[in-house]
Parts: sequence; C-alpha cells; structure tokens
Amino acid sequence: MRRKVIAGNWKMNNDLSESQNLISHLVSSLSKEKVNCDVIVCPPFTSLSEANSLLKNSVIKLGAQNMYFEESGAFTGEISASMLKSTGCEYVILGHSERRTIFGETDQVINKKIKKALQSGLLPIFCVGETLQERESGVTNDIIKRQVVEGLKDISSDDMKKIIVAYEPVWAIGTGKTATPQQAEDVHAFIRGLVKSLYSNEIAENLIIQYGGSVKPDNANVLLSQADIDGALVGGACLKADSFMGIIKAA
Ligand code: PGA
Repeated sequence: MRRKVIAGNWKMNNDLSESQNLISHLVSSLSKEKVNCDVIVCPPFTSLSEANSLLKNSVIKLGAQNMYFEESGAFTGEISASMLKSTGCEYVILGHSERRTIFGETDQVINKKIKKALQSGLLPIFCVGETLQERESGVTNDIIKRQVVEGLKDISSDDMKKIIVAYEPVWAIGTGKTATPQQAEDVHAFIRGLVKSLYSNEIAENLIIQYGGSVKPDNANVLLSQADIDGALVGGACLKADSFMGIIKAA
C-alpha cells in the first residue's frame, strides 16, 4: 500500500509575511487533524528558511521549486542543491512544465538536476506531462516515455527509490480543466509500466506517482481513488490553507 503524498507548489506567490501567514495557518489546521498522508509545501526560495523555522514541530515537510545542477560558482541568479539543503529542504520539484516551456529546460538539463539533487540528499519530485496539442495528436505516451527515459537516464535503482514522479498534463495546469480520472489513471499506469521495464517490478510498485493539474478539494477524492494515483501536486488550490486542507483530508 503506497502512502499518499500531497505537495503544494506555491509557484511565484507569497512574499515573506504572506508565507508566514499561510504556513502558520496550515500548521495549526493540520495539528487538529489525524493525517494519513505525507504533506509537502514548496514556497519560493525567499521564504524557505522562515518556512523551515515555522515547520519545526509540524509533520509538514519542506521542498523547493527548482535548483541548478552545478555545485557553486558564476551562475548569476541560480540556487544550488546544497543551498536548498541548508535551508532545511528535503524535496525539490524538477522539470515542471513551466520550467520546460518558459525557461527552456530540456530533458538533459532536468536529468542533470535530478542527479545533482540526489547526490546532495534532496528528494526530487520529477514532473512530466504532455501539451494539449500532443494529446490531440495522439502522442501522449510517446512524449511521456521520452521525458521519463531521458529524465531518468543513468539513474541507479537505489536512487530511483527516492524519486517521486508527478504527472501533470500541461493543458490541465492552472486552466481549471482537470484530466478525467480515467485519463489520468491511464497515464499513471503507463508511467508505472515504464518504470517497471526500466528498473524492476518492486521499484515500480513502490513508486509514488502524483497527479497535478487543477486539483481541488472537490475533485481530489475521485482522482486519488484511482489505483495508480498516489498523491497530488497542487498549484492554485494550495495557496489558501482551507482548500489545501480539503485536498489533504481527501487523501
Ligand atoms: P494547478 O498547478 O494546480 O494550479 O493547476 C499545478 C502545478 O503546476 O503543479
């Protein structure tokens, strides 16, 4: 039985005081609930350190939204894995579709980032997903396969056990359009099968595969009931403590 993992991707939202507010709300709401899933929040870099202090006595874990694959040096504007570790991060989102499309990240760059994260002791949340045009042309599985195979290139079985995969159809992110539970389940099962062929049945069966794309309290339950959906990567709905809590309760 895989444990559900709910992660909130704040994206470029919340300054320091807004972050303090949201984290404090979440911590106090969660302390009143019996939580049966893992909960991760991924605030912007500027709030990580403060978030870590506020999360000290909470079950909520801390993640970042991106990092660079070099150790240190002349990479203006970038953040390294060890810097993230030093703020208390355990997780890092890599390969998000906004990184791929707006910032031009390729499968090769994402692969380097995943390796560096693992080397540094961070647990990657590795995102994959097709665009609307790709889905409509019937190449969804080809795109997912390329992203998974290239993204995981030369990653050992031991390291693979530390990775969470997030399936996020690009057309469902921030659009209010959710993949139907069946559409999502089909791709999740495809990803699990792929990981089985690349690694082993055991690794595939233990792999957490989150769904992301307009997950809300009112659709979380049906999505999370699918056999191969093990959690959610939540954008818009994680910015309010109440709606994020609604998704956590569904899990
Ligand atoms: P959304 O974003 O929930 O706002 O669709 C999900 C994501 O991009 O991770």
